[in-house]
Amino acid sequence: MEVTPPAVARLAGERVDHRFKGLPPDAEGYTFGQLAAERRPLFTGGFTTPLLTLDSAALDHNLARLAGFTARHGLAFAPHGKTSMAPQLFARQLALGAWGITAATPAQVRVCRAFGVPRVFLANEVVDATALAWLSAELAADPGFRVIVYVDSVRGVELMDAALTHPLDVVVELGVAGGRTGVRDQATADQVADAVAASRHLRLTGVAGYEGGIPDRTPQTVRAWLDRLVGLARRFDAAGRFAGADEIVVSAGGSAWFDVVAEAFAAADGFSLPSLKLLRSGAYVTHDDGHYRQVTPYHHRLPEDGLRSALLLWAQVVSRPEPGRAYLNAGKRDLPHDLDLPLPRLIRSPDSPTPAPPPASPSPPSPTSTPSSPSPPPPPSTSATGSPSASPTPAPPSTNGRRSPWSTRTTR
Ligand SMILES: Cc1ncc(COP(=O)(O)O)c(C=O)c1O
Repeated sequence: MEVTPPAVARLAGERVDHRFKGLPPDAEGYTFGQLAAERRPLFTGGFTTPLLTLDSAALDHNLARLAGFTARHGLAFAPHGKTSMAPQLFARQLALGAWGITAATPAQVRVCRAFGVPRVFLANEVVDATALAWLSAELAADPGFRVIVYVDSVRGVELMDAALTHPLDVVVELGVAGGRTGVRDQATADQVADAVAASRHLRLTGVAGYEGGIPDRTPQTVRAWLDRLVGLARRFDAAGRFAGADEIVVSAGGSAWFDVVAEAFAAADGFSLPSLKLLRSGAYVTHDDGHYRQVTPYHHRLPEDGLRSALLLWAQVVSRPEPGRAYLNAGKRDLPHDLDLPLPRLIRSPDSPTPAPPPASPSPPSPTSTPSSPSPPPPPSTSATGSPSASPTPAPPSTNGRRSPWSTRTTR
């Protein structure tokens, strides 16, 4: 199952221009395909700072790691697309066996559709009548397209049903008190399922939720919540609530607890229909050196070689106005982050053009650093990517060029 190759391939025909930060000014007017084919060296190829890069070796590793994990554990995989929103990565995830792509909004589903993603798991409630009318039209036009959407209230079901003109598969979302969306109790779950059964267009096909929304997450609380989720599917099944469905979907899982999800879902068998146990990890694909390095199962519970941080931002020190202070030419729009600050990983200077880890500092570089500071990444084998949609094409190592003023690399 692959994303329509022509739609993804067409991206390589887009033109480099002012919309793409960091790409060489002298490549203006090139197609991305032409620029990528030149394999320009990172430091001497005319790129400007700040420049966000994607480490192709780390990316390959992470893609393979989760594809292997899901295959070994009998899980279907719908990687969350919001992490990258990169159709080239969707195509690679699908080519590695993913069932489909997870989306958070109808706008993200549109991107998936534009690039031929055959199945989308819309892990959110949708009551936007225009978006639901669009979804109906997409489903009517393409019998091969499958989309599954969350529901968590009777009112939401009513609003959806009023706006839809085509049958739509839904799953009841299970939440937790103090958490995000999702029904809080069995009685509400039953009311929502009743409303779905009474609707004209909705068809109940399973249950889902996100353990990342549990307020106090430990292996025990996450497992207990996952067992509740599986239990909800069992009760619905026993009550004949999936009568109109082809399969029973049970879905959970981000990038912090997928090992516990796999354990809990291993016991999710014996339904009246085939089951689709769907994992939705997204952040795994680029990983990071902050939050996800701390919470990944590979850090705590899995003995295997873990995920690798793949997003790298090269910036320059542009001012040292007083001792102990240095300012980079990069800000929040170049280094978007929601949990932890970026970490300095490599420094390159005119005296030392081969990038090297920063000298050990007595004060930790970020509030979340731990005594076991991250091991330095391998020498750069990065590819320069423009923003927002340049192709993540691999480029060769590039430490051999003439001296460049570039000096600091940070990663998320
Ligand atoms: C509903 C839902 N599913 C899956 C994910 C993916 O989790 P992660 O980013 O940890 O991979 C998220 C992330 O926020 C989410 O909100």
